[in-house]
Amino acid sequence: MMQFSWTDDLYTGSTLIDGDHRKLVDLVNAFFQSMQSGQGNGRVGKTMNDLIAYTEEHFGREEAEMERIQYVASLAHKAEHTKLLKQVVELKAMLDAGGRINIPAVSDFLGEWLRDHILAADMKLAAALKQQRSFEPAPQLH
Ligand SMILES: [Fe+2]
Repeated sequence: MMQFSWTDDLYTGSTLIDGDHRKLVDLVNAFFQSMQSGQGNGRVGKTMNDLIAYTEEHFGREEAEMERIQYVASLAHKAEHTKLLKQVVELKAMLDAGGRINIPAVSDFLGEWLRDHILAADMKLAAALKQQRSFEPAPQLH
């Protein structure tokens, strides 16, 4: 069965980012499943909308963290987000127009993008977040 399998090498060490990624993987798999089981454009459109909406939220959270720590690589990282969202929105438009999805190509593309992005861009961001935290004063206990 076509599915994105979570592997522990994908943990970045940031609770915020990892929690989002686990949910994102669930939504990616729901989308794959709807395509694969031939549930029709309506159902595929719904799982794709859920995926797009959550992806936007998640990218927004990562980008807010980048702003907060004035992350040096934020432009390149944000550009990856913007490009991916554009591609997925185009795919959705194609589907809405009655086009046929090349299921293996779409699932390979999304799965590879997610894994590559997490292992490169998100790992670096999580490391920068961790480093930033180590410079913050210890919380005061009352
Ligand atoms: Fe990211």
